[in-house]
Amino acid sequence: MFFPSSILSAVVAIASLVVVQAHTVITYPGWRGDNLITNDTFPYGMQWMYPCGGMRTTTNRTLWPTTGGAIALQPGWFQGHATAFFYINLGFGTDGPDQGPPNMSFPMVPVFQIVGPNKNPYPGTFCLPQVPLPANTTVNVGDNATIQVVETAIHGASLFSCVDITFAAPETVAAQMEVNASNCFNSSDISFNNVFSISGSTSGASRTIATASFLPLASLLMWAFL
Ligand SMILES: *[C@@H]1O[C@H](CO)[C@@H](O)[C@H](O)[C@H]1NC(C)=O
Ligand SMILES: *[C@@H]1O[C@H](CO)[C@@H](O)[C@H](O)[C@H]1NC(C)=O
Ligand SMILES: *[C@@H]1O[C@H](CO)[C@@H](O)[C@H](O)[C@H]1NC(C)=O
Ligand SMILES: *[C@@H]1O[C@H](CO)[C@@H](O)[C@H](O)[C@H]1NC(C)=O
Ligand SMILES: *[C@@H]1O[C@H](CO)[C@@H](O)[C@H](O)[C@H]1NC(C)=O
Ligand SMILES: *[C@@H]1O[C@H](CO)[C@@H](O)[C@H](O)[C@H]1NC(C)=O
Ligand SMILES: *[C@@H]1O[C@H](CO)[C@@H](O)[C@H](O)[C@H]1NC(C)=O
Repeated sequence: MFFPSSILSAVVAIASLVVVQAHTVITYPGWRGDNLITNDTFPYGMQWMYPCGGMRTTTNRTLWPTTGGAIALQPGWFQGHATAFFYINLGFGTDGPDQGPPNMSFPMVPVFQIVGPNKNPYPGTFCLPQVPLPANTTVNVGDNATIQVVETAIHGASLFSCVDITFAAPETVAAQMEVNASNCFNSSDISFNNVFSISGSTSGASRTIATASFLPLASLLMWAFL
């Protein structure tokens, strides 16, 4: 496999890529509702629809800290996602379509990859205890926003799930819904990979970097320049 473009940016993930499809449930701070549905209205399944997996904006908003806070996910609801890339974004306010945000263009964390136990459905959860606000943004108590979780499949399509939030003081959130080891934990069978890119050759002769979980990083870097 070759990259066709002259300027190559190779995304390297230190694991084999076998994602076919994948689905997500946001267990903390909640979600808009069950969008793990495929029926006549959503023949491809709801989670494939931008921006929030076919769920309309909700009014039962969850309080979430003005200083950032926890987000917990169950990534393994259907088969085919032994690995998956994740993005977590924020959209501000209610001035956009469907009384939600105008866009979901404010990343909260860099993209990362999870590695699950296998490609069958699995019950694991992972939790990021302190997801920050998007860079260079500030919010006030009472502001509404929407957190969007995006999971990409190997064929390039993305799965979407959201939770509508209202920002509150950290102590208010803690009083309402304590974050602790019962709702924010990492299952032992899910691990994480960093995702980064390497500037490639401009000649167009570069190779795709094969990924393999057993190779040390140095080998991968070497392959990038072959
Ligand atoms: C909001 O209500 C819907 C419908 O009852 C429910 O499925 C969803 O979990 C609720 N969301 C939150 C964040 O409580
Ligand atoms: C498909 O599921 C959605 C979400 O539950 C529902 O709103 C819709 O009515 C369903 N469509 C059909 C044809 O059952
Ligand atoms: C935030 O959303 C809630 C519930 O949808 C709504 O009642 C409230 O007016 C909104 N607040 C602002 C500042 O838009
Ligand atoms: C996204 O929405 C924000 C408001 O939340 C707005 O300031 C910004 O211009 C929008 N970005 C784009 C690309 O439209
Ligand atoms: C945040 O602000 C700093 C300083 O102005 C700037 O260098 C950086 O690019 C900004 N980050 C984003 C994501 O806008
Ligand atoms: C964790 O917090 C929840 C409320 O969010 C509470 O129901 C539960 O008892 C707490 N668990 C522990 C071990 O403190
Ligand atoms: C889960 O693992 C991620 C990645 O290593 C880490 O950032 C996070 O803090 C862990 N969560 C908990 C609850 O320890």
